[in-house]
Amino acid sequence: MKITIFGTGYVGLVTGTCLAEMGNDVLCVDVDQQKIDNLKQNIIPIYEPGLETMVKENQNDGRLKFTTDTNEAVQHGLFQFIAVGTPPDEDGSADLKYVLAVANTIAENMDEYRVIINKSTVPVGTGNKVKATIQQVLDKQDKSIEFDVVSNPEFLKEGAAISDFMKPDRIIIGTDNPRTTELLKAMYAPFNRNHDRIIAMDIRSAELTKYAANAMLATKISFMNELANLAEILGADIENVRHGIGSDSRIGYHFIYPGCGYGGSCFPKDVKALERTAKENGYNAELLSAVENVNDRQKHVIFNKIQQHYSGNIKGKTFALWGLAFKPKTDDMREAPSRVLIQSLIEAGAKVKAYDPEALEEAKRIFGGKEGLTLCDSQNEATEGTDALCIVTEWKNFRSPDFQELNNKLTDAVIFDGRNLYNPKDVKKFDLQYYSIGRS
Ligand SMILES: NC(=O)c1ccc[n+]([C@@H]2O[C@H](COP(=O)([O-])OP(=O)(O)OC[C@H]3O[C@@H](n4cnc5c(N)ncnc54)[C@H](O)[C@@H]3O)[C@@H](O)[C@H]2O)c1
Repeated sequence: MKITIFGTGYVGLVTGTCLAEMGNDVLCVDVDQQKIDNLKQNIIPIYEPGLETMVKENQNDGRLKFTTDTNEAVQHGLFQFIAVGTPPDEDGSADLKYVLAVANTIAENMDEYRVIINKSTVPVGTGNKVKATIQQVLDKQDKSIEFDVVSNPEFLKEGAAISDFMKPDRIIIGTDNPRTTELLKAMYAPFNRNHDRIIAMDIRSAELTKYAANAMLATKISFMNELANLAEILGADIENVRHGIGSDSRIGYHFIYPGCGYGGSCFPKDVKALERTAKENGYNAELLSAVENVNDRQKHVIFNKIQQHYSGNIKGKTFALWGLAFKPKTDDMREAPSRVLIQSLIEAGAKVKAYDPEALEEAKRIFGGKEGLTLCDSQNEATEGTDALCIVTEWKNFRSPDFQELNNKLTDAVIFDGRNLYNPKDVKKFDLQYYSIGRS
């Protein structure tokens, strides 16, 4: 099948590559010339396990191509995927300018039937806006061409994006026209062999499903963080509580890890956007505001513990920081808790030596040569000449450090762990003070 993907970010590049892997003829288009030039040489703009090899293989085999030529892109695919960003606007609502710009481009260059598939996360009603935009442009050009608009939200997780796309839990097809359901079923058939994963519904419900999924996951995290803070006050251990409730099959173990807050490109912006959609429609979504507020507060929890430990005086101290990415197996630092902690420490007069296995380049781009921040090439280098260690991302290689060596290196012999990586008893054996989340 001939498929065009607009946007070569986390979602567009993974979607295009996986569809090519299944034997389709895929053309990916982006407005970023540098990105496209690099992709043509198999230089991947993001870190995503397995992606680079797959891009290389499919490009070599001629099933995956990259361009900035929008006319070529629209001519190419019967299926035109929109996978561009929907960042938060100033008021928290999703900014649709990139999505609608693509709709415009498709309409301007279209001269036969096209299926426009929206993979970006967009507020309820965007399908109609895309349809109206395309129709308007066609009318202006006096063209009468049939097209369909489909909502096909993406649920992949950064860090496991390829396996999530290849073996999805579900494929949501939101359409008001049964013929497009059949077309998409045919396109997704290779991903649907083991059992039927397709759930077809109307466009508005499909659009809301994506927000509902992310808001539910964010709610679970904020709920657990709220409980963790309470556990500390009450002298309970949130890790025991986590095991205790996770064992209930109605609750389950997923997404109930307490920590220093969720980040990333999706949860924060999607919770805000859904709250905003509710407001615009005269509904006050109180739970969503609470989820967001709890998370914002949680991103300061480690800093507050540090302040308390040092009685508010950290001026001149140097902190090692392990983990910059918002979660392991990605280099994505959008809304990462590490950013809040680094900012707070430096504002309070401390210095930070930070390390992350994949996000150093991204950190360089974000922070530039920020005074007080040193980016280090290894976790050992980050702890050299520091007073204390903070852990912000739960990368596997942080899980079993040499505690004796840490005790020797950290002048104040103290660890602030925002991800509950260690058993407090094990750490304390090495005369290290240990602060974690929800464990007094
Ligand atoms: N990142 C995730 O894990 C994830 C998961 C599910 C859904 N989503 C949603 O998918 C959408 C895309 O997210 P992302 O993380 O891939 O974004 P991204 O910022 O990584 O990539 C977006 C890409 O679109 C390109 N672009 C912008 N305007 C364009 C245009 N007119 N034509 C062609 N390309 C254009 C940009 O240059 C960029 O390369 C968002 O709505 C996001 O909420 C993201």
